[in-house]
Amino acid sequence: MLTLTFHGHACFVLEGDGRRVIIDPFLTGNPAADIGLDRLPKVDAVLLSHGHGDHLGDAIPIAKRDGATIVATFELATFCGTNGAIVHGMHIGGAHQFPFGRVKLVPAFHGGAVEGDDGSHTTNPCGLVVTLGGKTIYHTGDTALTLEMKLLEGRVDVMLVPIGDNYTMGVDDAVRAVEFVRPHIAIPMHYNTWDIIRADPEDFRRRVGNRADVVILAPGQSLKHS
Ligand code: NI
Ligand code: MN
Repeated sequence: MLTLTFHGHACFVLEGDGRRVIIDPFLTGNPAADIGLDRLPKVDAVLLSHGHGDHLGDAIPIAKRDGATIVATFELATFCGTNGAIVHGMHIGGAHQFPFGRVKLVPAFHGGAVEGDDGSHTTNPCGLVVTLGGKTIYHTGDTALTLEMKLLEGRVDVMLVPIGDNYTMGVDDAVRAVEFVRPHIAIPMHYNTWDIIRADPEDFRRRVGNRADVVILAPGQSLKHS
C-alpha cells in the first residue's frame, strides 16, 4: 500500500511499509503549501529532483532535524553534504536500493543552478523513479517533454507531471508525456503556485481522457493506492 500526499507545487510525501520520504520539500515560502516544517512528520529520506529553490526548499533543515538522508544527483548531494546533511549521491541512469525503497534517477531537461551555492557545484536536474509500498512512482522533476520518457512506458503506477508551462511542460506536452509513459494514475503538479504557471488541471484531465486516471490533489490531499 502506497500513501501519497501532495503538499503544493512539486512536493509530495510517499509512505509505505512503515517508511516515509519527501520529494522536493518546498514548504517555507511556498504559497501553495498546506503545512510548514513544524507540521511535517519525521521522514526517512529527502529526494531531490534539482537545486532550484522551489525544489531544494527545506531539504537541508529537514535532513538535519530528522537524521534523514538526502538523495540527489552527485553534485547537488555534495552541496547538501557541505551544508551538514547526510547525503547519498547518485547519477542519471543509476538506481539504488535504500531501506525505504528503490530510487532510480532519470533524465530531465531543465536548469542546474543550486539555490544558495556560489557556483562551485554544477548540477544536472533529474526525474525520480521511486519504488515504495509495492508501487512505482515517477516524479518527472521540472522538465520539457522528452523522448526518454518512453523508456518508462508500462513501468510506472503513478506519474507526477508538471502542467504549469513557462518553466516546464504545459498541458499540451504533459498529455503527450502521459501517452509516452502510460501510467495507471497521473497527478498534475507545478501549477497555480504563482500566476506565471497558472493552468487548469481539469483541462489536463479531459485531454488525457481514458489514457490514465487523472487524480487532481489539492495541497494536503492524499491518494491511497494498493
Ligand atoms: Ni526548476
Ligand atoms: Mn520548479
